[in-house]
Amino acid sequence: MKITIFSGTPRVDGYTSEVIKNLVPELEETGNDIEVVRLFDKDIIGCNNCGICQKEGNEGECTIDDDMNEIYGIVKETDLIILASPIYMWQFTACTKAFLERLHCMYDSLTGKRVALVTTMGDDEFVASFAVGAMMDMCEYFHMTYLNTFAVPFADKDEINRPLYREKLKDFVKRITE
Ligand SMILES: Cc1cc2nc3c(=O)[nH]c(=O)nc-3n(C[C@H](O)[C@H](O)[C@H](O)COP(=O)(O)O)c2cc1C
Repeated sequence: MKITIFSGTPRVDGYTSEVIKNLVPELEETGNDIEVVRLFDKDIIGCNNCGICQKEGNEGECTIDDDMNEIYGIVKETDLIILASPIYMWQFTACTKAFLERLHCMYDSLTGKRVALVTTMGDDEFVASFAVGAMMDMCEYFHMTYLNTFAVPFADKDEINRPLYREKLKDFVKRITE
């Protein structure tokens, strides 16, 4: 199975990246094919609602010429999408949101994909409820299977590397890959 982590954090050495650093070897142990795509480093703008992709026969066609062109190919090949974003203003980051908006043109090709979330936040986990709820609704709309969320509240590197969260991460990997 092809697993892609779409990372929406701006920080390469921040808290969400620290979780991803721990997550990748756990996923590799499952023998699957793993790729990490850093959305913040890509040139991706939000959907302009031109409507072209919504016309009959235009599935998968986006008129915006940016880095989503390469990412559409990666999404198509991916069986398990892991969306990893910190919570900024009670939501996923702007680059994560732009990525999600641009999946609008992939209605048919998203069907059957599996989705899991990784998120970190400065406060308690309830601040992620809006973003997580939106992702669950998006999965239902696109006929994808929402699997699980790995969240680290009050995040910092010590917290992320605490035995509790290392164990929870192993459990998360087991649940989303079996
Ligand atoms: C612009 C901005 C907005 C934030 N908004 C929230 C928020 O709404 N709730 C929260 O708990 N933490 C918030 N935080 C804190 C981050 O979620 C937290 O520090 C996170 O672990 C950072 O992950 P990163 O190192 O991957 O950026 C915010 C941080 C920034 C920079």
